[in-house]
Amino acid sequence: MTTDTAMLDFTIVPSTTPMAESDRLRAFDNLGFGTLFTDHMAVVQWDADKGWHHAEIKARAPFQIDPAASVLHYAQEIFEGMKAYKAQDGRITLFRPEENARRFNKSAIRMAMPEVPEELFLKAVAELVKIDSKWVPEGEGSLYLRPFMFATEAFLGVRPSRQYIFCVIASPVGPYFKGGSKPVTLWVSEHYTRAAPGGTGAAKCGGNYAASLLAQSEATSRGCDQVVFLDAAEHKWVEELGGMNVFFVMDDGTVVTPPLSGTILPGITRGSIIQLATENGLKVIERPYSFEEWANDARSGKLREAFACGTAAVVAAIGTVRHSGGEFVIGNAGTGMETEKLRNQLTGIQRGTVADGHGWVKDVASL
Ligand code: PLP
Ligand code: COI
Repeated sequence: MTTDTAMLDFTIVPSTTPMAESDRLRAFDNLGFGTLFTDHMAVVQWDADKGWHHAEIKARAPFQIDPAASVLHYAQEIFEGMKAYKAQDGRITLFRPEENARRFNKSAIRMAMPEVPEELFLKAVAELVKIDSKWVPEGEGSLYLRPFMFATEAFLGVRPSRQYIFCVIASPVGPYFKGGSKPVTLWVSEHYTRAAPGGTGAAKCGGNYAASLLAQSEATSRGCDQVVFLDAAEHKWVEELGGMNVFFVMDDGTVVTPPLSGTILPGITRGSIIQLATENGLKVIERPYSFEEWANDARSGKLREAFACGTAAVVAAIGTVRHSGGEFVIGNAGTGMETEKLRNQLTGIQRGTVADGHGWVKDVASL
């Protein structure tokens, strides 16, 4: 698909009905995940004739789309998840935002959608964070950013749409899991799978999440926080959770994580953890790890710790794993030492309290 490289200027029309400061601060007292939204959104249009055009920052409001819009029928939709943080010195920062821009475009290619020039993606995110800067919580919270693109052409034939909207919305968030940083309980889906070889598992498209919901409901009904998917071909190899990658810390200082086989999302947190763990002296091995091996290693004590990681969830220790045949615990079902260390390093870098030796943190004001 074609891309326009010319940079667009955003027309900025501030909301005339922003939330009252007292209401916003009250809402900040009890932040969960993804229910509270800021005053504005960034919107850019694409069509096959003009390419990207009409870039706006405006009051957050519903879209009006045609009932035949192809996203409503054939699910041409992709998204990203990233966070803005308020550093102690008052700066507002993003963590590796260019990685989100690149992954967004890989998802776009897989879903036959137009790429968003990296500069335009970053500008949309930065302009939204700037106008809604008072929505970035201090302390433990952050401003979750959700860039997404969907097909709007009114056409029922099955082919790529010739019109799209790229949009960014923002939501002040606290912890993803209700239990905060307490270890999570997982449900292993032995029946439903998330993605097959040659499918869309490595793309961040809405359809992957729709496909995960029944399995996630099964997990919830069994008192679990998240579902673990096994591979589609053999139902044997651990892939990832509904919305996070997974790591296993062994008693010999090795760390195992499933490889980027094309069926899992290449997490930006995953990549960062691999780098940090390696620098901490751990040997990270990206290899297939079976559910059977997982259960055996947990029982023998070879597996000391396991954790899930992602932008929304950050780093969450895995305490208990349930499956159709019973359950097992990992270590003492608490948060392991390496997990805690990696979580502190990562969140410290993101929040500016630990030196960023990798150039991962970007000041929003510089974008
Ligand atoms: N895997 C899935 C299915 C996800 O939805 C996410 C979250 O975005 C991740 C992994 C972790 O990716 P990242 O660390 O880039 O947020
Ligand atoms: C993210 O971490 O950004 C995701 O998209 C995952 C989802 C569970 C919210």
